[in-house]
Amino acid sequence: MLKPRDAVLSIPQIPQLTSGRSGICLDLNENTAGCSPRVLAKLRSLTTADVSLYPERATVEAVVATHLGVRPEELLLTNGVDEAILLLFSAFLGPGDEALYPVPTFPMYPICSAAAGARTVEMATDRDFRFPAAALRAAITPQTRMIAVANPNNPTGALAPRKELLAILESAPHSAVLVDEAYYEFSGETMLGELPRFPNLFVARTFSKAYGMAALRVGCLLGAAGHMDAVRRLAPPFNVNGLALACLPEALADGEFVSSCVIAVKRERARLDAAFSKYGIRTWPSHGNFVLADLGKWHAEFTAELAKEGIHVRDRGADPACAGCVRITIGTSAEMDRLYSALPGVLQRTGWHVAV
Ligand SMILES: Cc1ncc(COP(=O)(O)O)c(C=O)c1O
Repeated sequence: MLKPRDAVLSIPQIPQLTSGRSGICLDLNENTAGCSPRVLAKLRSLTTADVSLYPERATVEAVVATHLGVRPEELLLTNGVDEAILLLFSAFLGPGDEALYPVPTFPMYPICSAAAGARTVEMATDRDFRFPAAALRAAITPQTRMIAVANPNNPTGALAPRKELLAILESAPHSAVLVDEAYYEFSGETMLGELPRFPNLFVARTFSKAYGMAALRVGCLLGAAGHMDAVRRLAPPFNVNGLALACLPEALADGEFVSSCVIAVKRERARLDAAFSKYGIRTWPSHGNFVLADLGKWHAEFTAELAKEGIHVRDRGADPACAGCVRITIGTSAEMDRLYSALPGVLQRTGWHVAV
């Protein structure tokens, strides 16, 4: 009888989005302010040929490479960072190998590690969500072939100190080290400049977050040309769709859109911290476009009650070390105002002690 590989059956199912996702969506760390008007204008100007012909990735790859200051051979455009992770893990991990990453973190790492048949080694963080640098380094073995660090991390918003990342790169020359910079625009911290020094370093960037193009599905993976050649062999030739490719140069040309969104997110993030602390709700310092908040035993009710108000946030209470935690994406100031006006009633209904 036909049966999928055991490694695949071990992967937990991720709930699919359904049509219920309308209203104020503060649950998936998108840019709720939208995308650059230049991207929308480009989409509206597309021709029949733009839709009917297979897309050319390489020409746009050259544009993105120039923008990021790398050579085109060092960059692969992917169907979001999700695909970058899948390709990278498939290229470097196999049965008997180990993939090492701190938890809580982005769920694609365990999925892609299991898909490759590798053993996952998860390093738990403490409740401060500080990067477990020493434990990670101590867990490196000759079998380690992949170390993945989301920086800033999702769902915590924490940054791994640069010197710790450098120490890991130095300690594991036999392992790929992925620094997933999906939220780079908000943190301003990057390892990209270290690519020439470390052939084991890979950096991932996305256009789903600050650029506001999550539905177009485009991101990129950067690494040493020789290793990227291996990853490129695995990549489907038309993995990035033509609409995304047409829009990318427009998105890159509108740096002002991205920087104004980043400024707004930082302002609103500080406002959220202050608003939540008024009610005695702990939040953790975040370097992304989201904040993790501790709703204690009320996390599920809090999420459900906010949803009734048309405001969707993400219950992360089941993540390691995240008991009671809810992740809230930073929306526009109007959306955040709606959240703050719903907050007293929601907290009261969930039983949270309303302190003011
Ligand atoms: C750390 C991290 N990496 C990657 C992704 C996925 O990005 P993309 O939309 O480019 O697939 C996310 C999305 O939430 C993320 O949080």
